[in-house]
Amino acid sequence: MSWKDKIDIKRLPQHVAIIMDGNGRWAKKRGKLRTFGHNHGVTSVRETAEAAAELGIKYLTLYAFSTENWNRPRAEVNALMKLLVRTIHKESKTLHDNKIRLLAIGELEALTKKTQKELQEAINDTAHHERMAMVLALSYSSRWELTQAAKELAKDVATNKISLQQVDQELFESYLTTSAFPDPELLIRTSGEYRISNFLLWQIAYSELYFTPKFWPEFRKEDFYEAIVDFQNRERRFGKISEQIIKEKDENEN
Ligand code: IPE
Ligand code: IPE
Ligand code: MG
Repeated sequence: MSWKDKIDIKRLPQHVAIIMDGNGRWAKKRGKLRTFGHNHGVTSVRETAEAAAELGIKYLTLYAFSTENWNRPRAEVNALMKLLVRTIHKESKTLHDNKIRLLAIGELEALTKKTQKELQEAINDTAHHERMAMVLALSYSSRWELTQAAKELAKDVATNKISLQQVDQELFESYLTTSAFPDPELLIRTSGEYRISNFLLWQIAYSELYFTPKFWPEFRKEDFYEAIVDFQNRERRFGKISEQIIKEKDENEN
């Protein structure tokens, strides 16, 4: 039996975020170069995007390259940028076939010109697709995003575009790169590491966290379904107590 059969289609998360980790270790285990792992990670991206779109998930955010990843050896960074260009180009069919809209968050100006161009083209070409949005986090880190947001907000206060009294959580959120998306209900990290690595710190305040020991290149549709089932078996209390959650659920069903 597939994990897919255990999924309650009426209770899907709207937004799933993934820290795609473990490419290098997966390759090393096979006596290959780290880049071999990155190349194989593309299949996992395709499988996961298809699985998510088929289920009816609306947003899939993938952490593909962090601000801190710029500190890796030059050759690896170059290989990753090249792979990104190649993949966006090659996978445009996957995006169109599955009616997926591509979006990107992060300090995109830091990417190579070629990457920026390929990315922008794919974003424009898929802008009309409404089944699911796939958001690539590129040259992204949460502290970068929060600092940018604070700066922009301060500027708008200083220039009287908004008043200090207007600043609340909702307004602050409108300054984040993710302002157009709901917060992810589920965050998945592969490779057996139990950390967030500077990803969506504000947005995951109440996300369910799911960690799997599988390396990203071995992550397949079944693994995604398994994570969704795990998510659906949790009780999300948001500070309340279990009895309140059960009562609210009963009231909603009646
Ligand atoms: C994730 O795999 C891909 C990126 C961060 C770009 P890694 O390259 O981090 O692989 P490990 O974690 O070293 O195995
Ligand atoms: C997190 O993975 C970033 C991405 C998946 C893009 P890292 O491999 O860079 O994270 P750390 O350094 O192990 O925390
Ligand atoms: Mg890693």
